[in-house]
Amino acid sequence: MTSLVYPTTNLTQIEQLTIVRGDGIYVYDQHGQRYLEGLAALWCSALGYGNQELIEAITTQLRTLPYSHMFGGRTHQVAMELADRLSEMVPMDQARIFFANSGSEANDSQIKMLHYYFNVIGKPEKKKIITLDRSYHGVTLASAALTSLPAMHTHFDIPVEELGILRAETPHYYHGHREGESEQEFVARLLADLRVMIEQQGPDTIAAFVAEPIGGASGVVVAPDAYFPALEKLLAEYDILFWADEVICGFGRTGNDFGCNTMGIRPQMMSLAKQLSSAYIPISAALIPDFMYQAMQEPSSQVGVFGHGYTYTGHPVACAAALKAVEIYQRDRLFDHAAAVGNYMQQRLREFSDHPLVGEVRGKGLIGAIELVADKANRRSFPDGRVGAMAKQYCQDRGLLIRAVSGNCLAFCPPLIITTDQIDEMIDMFGKALDETAKYVSKEGLLAS
Ligand SMILES: Cc1ncc(COP(=O)(O)O)c(C=O)c1O
Repeated sequence: MTSLVYPTTNLTQIEQLTIVRGDGIYVYDQHGQRYLEGLAALWCSALGYGNQELIEAITTQLRTLPYSHMFGGRTHQVAMELADRLSEMVPMDQARIFFANSGSEANDSQIKMLHYYFNVIGKPEKKKIITLDRSYHGVTLASAALTSLPAMHTHFDIPVEELGILRAETPHYYHGHREGESEQEFVARLLADLRVMIEQQGPDTIAAFVAEPIGGASGVVVAPDAYFPALEKLLAEYDILFWADEVICGFGRTGNDFGCNTMGIRPQMMSLAKQLSSAYIPISAALIPDFMYQAMQEPSSQVGVFGHGYTYTGHPVACAAALKAVEIYQRDRLFDHAAAVGNYMQQRLREFSDHPLVGEVRGKGLIGAIELVADKANRRSFPDGRVGAMAKQYCQDRGLLIRAVSGNCLAFCPPLIITTDQIDEMIDMFGKALDETAKYVSKEGLLAS
């Protein structure tokens, strides 16, 4: 037992798995047991472990300039280069890029920049933000307000009302549709409800709508195809910005460069982290449109500074890691690889569709989930997350690390470099673990009769 306070952990059940090293898509514990990183650690290890080019880029930067800050007019080449590279890549017009250290900080920064922008353009009432009622956007005070998962709110006094956070229904057809409702009708109803919410709140009070193109920690929720294009039109009608949280979906995860391109929506703001540096060094980015940046310039001069920034904003070593990661993604056509092996993974995951415990198999590219349910016919969930936790443990016992999220959704999100043979290995371990989970469920009498 150490002095650590562990993150996102049941604090009565700590220190159950000690990882000592990694190699490719595998990690090893202190006993030498090998595990396949079925969730790319925390949805982030795109290039796996031991990538020599990344290590070289990082060490070279460490030798040249291990740190320099970016306050008050000071700058350095590697951050400027990364910003320009990202600005060229993303599906936004002339993105302006603010660097931070985590997805939560990027999202906090977005909220602050929205406030700043609408204050300085004389629309101080336009500050509310719509988020989905099953969403994960981080855990700092402001980003946790955007997050809808109960564990991130309970006992924390998160300032949801103070920040004007509104929640719209998550576009998850499997759980959300009414008896006999088609996907098209489901989408139409959600958007009609959203329109009512916007009208009731007043469009002039709503700044942005934030969503992940494909929800990750909320259970790998994939919206019906029609949802995002229709959402884009509705938001444009009311002059509400669409802010894509691409912290998980960005950089090839969904089978395209960015999740917005997979789901058919063009964002005005984007948050990036995780695969941005393949998690070798922490870095995140908050991308805003040029018109926001232009409006912020003169007012900052009046105050003296744009009063937001971190000691480690644009940390040179993190920027060097990200630059190299992006270079590798593009040079090795890893997004195309992810699309191809992603199709294969989706196909293999769907082989479990008929299993008695499996309610829904979903996903796109190299992100997917298998949701375990108590009653397949009626799509009824288990009352708590015990079954998912057991399934996760059975996977781990066989050498596969995945996570049970949003109750009993088993999430798959392997490194982008995974091969089809390694996907077979992952599926094989999962299949055995699922059968063992079925035995557990039947022994405990948890399946609806
Ligand atoms: C979609 C999304 N946004 C934001 C975050 C927060 O990122 P971080 O944990 O780096 O603060 C996460 C983390 O998993 C995430 O999945």
